[in-house]
Amino acid sequence: MRVAFVASEAFPFAKVGGLADVVGSLPQALKRRGLEPTIFLPWYWGIDGYYVGETWFNFAGGREKAGIGHAEHEGVRYVLVGLPEFAREKPYGYDDDFRRFLKFQMAVAEMLQGYDIVHAHDWQAALLPLLRNLGRFGGRTVYTIHNLAYQGVWGSHDFYAWSGLPGETYYGAGLEHNNAVNLMKCGIVNADRVTTVSPSYSQEIRSPEFGEGLDGVLRAHEWKLRGILNGLDTTYWNPCDDRYLPHHYDSNDLSGKWKVRTELLAEQGLEDRPTLGVVSRFAHQKGIDIILGALPGLMDMGVNLMVLGSGDPHLERSFTWAAQHHRGRVAYVQGFNEPLAHRIYAGCDGFLMPSRFEPCGLAQMIAMRYGTPPIARAVGGLKDTVQHWETGFLFEHADAGGVLYGASEFLKHPDRNAVARNGMLRDFSWDGPAQEYIELYNSM
Ligand code: ADP
Ligand code: GLC
Repeated sequence: MRVAFVASEAFPFAKVGGLADVVGSLPQALKRRGLEPTIFLPWYWGIDGYYVGETWFNFAGGREKAGIGHAEHEGVRYVLVGLPEFAREKPYGYDDDFRRFLKFQMAVAEMLQGYDIVHAHDWQAALLPLLRNLGRFGGRTVYTIHNLAYQGVWGSHDFYAWSGLPGETYYGAGLEHNNAVNLMKCGIVNADRVTTVSPSYSQEIRSPEFGEGLDGVLRAHEWKLRGILNGLDTTYWNPCDDRYLPHHYDSNDLSGKWKVRTELLAEQGLEDRPTLGVVSRFAHQKGIDIILGALPGLMDMGVNLMVLGSGDPHLERSFTWAAQHHRGRVAYVQGFNEPLAHRIYAGCDGFLMPSRFEPCGLAQMIAMRYGTPPIARAVGGLKDTVQHWETGFLFEHADAGGVLYGASEFLKHPDRNAVARNGMLRDFSWDGPAQEYIELYNSM
């Protein structure tokens, strides 16, 4: 079975968050089970691929050309789509993101002949199910929602001028939402099947609280909606031989973990106290502001915070300030830092995730695999992966009180090492989820 994955991130080529982990590892698991996956990715600045040719596509009333590159990772084939708009420092965050990813999809659509399944991820690929329905290519379509908060919304005038699609698709094919084009909605309406990255999130988004304005659309299409929990690349995320860890360990012997911890605390100037790690995008979703609200209480309780992340500049400044005012108790490293992330997962005593919503969350699974019990809000994939008092600690409310309750449960537990070991013994691999995707593909 030939499967085309289309997405805006894939580890190790381009990563902003968990989307990259999933797109970079699920295809490997599918390949091990006999499927033939190919991943279509923008050819971002710096990706090492070899040029194989070009493809032409219609855009803004003319013909445009995209360079085509090939790359391989762990035996999986990547097709890189080269456009001048992608030769920039980071994948997103530009004023013309909508136009850039519209172009990406128009170019990819020219290369999708001959696939049995086209599996599109998030709004940057959400137009493809409609393009299939319009006969641009064949096969069945799966659309996976990784995050309903980013929908790909733009004015209809530009959209139709750029895409050249027939105007009747605006209402007729579900592109319209609140008087604008909404690609997320388009993907939901036009795909043969829609998945979310955890079972709980697939339920939550049918309600106004989590539906981001699309709960009605999701309820109308719930017959094709299902949640499949993400897995982890357990070869890459493995405390036994992690390339970024100075010491290794497993659930039978945690002494390597304590060495990583000692060195991390010393390097970051932290006192020897229970230390809670945070590795996160600084976005509203993640409740980073809630941690700041809980900071005085956390300091009173006697825990340290070891924070890595970037995003919202206000939150970055607040943590820089907090680290200066609570020397020895709060450490903050700004930026995206893969090696340090690994040492935080391994070297902390607990891992804090007060998400307002969480479609799945990989960070808590990684933390558990490294013997660092999560203290997480009971929402979405966090609720589906963390067992309170067994593998971690859950709290109900996305506010300072919730965080402090979670931290007090963590401190109160009589045997945190047992909690750590329970988490390490859980199966977070792709084995189960990959099988579910294959069943889904076969059922279509
Ligand atoms: P999301 O995709 O919403 O950001 P996930 O928990 O699913 O959340 O995935 C986040 C991924 O990004 C994890 O692999 C995490 O380690 C990584 N990550 C997030 N922020 C950073 C950072 N500042 N440095 C390194 N890795 C990061
Ligand atoms: C999104 C979600 C996160 C999920 C990831 C991978 O970024 O925010 O919860 O784990 O996608 O599916």
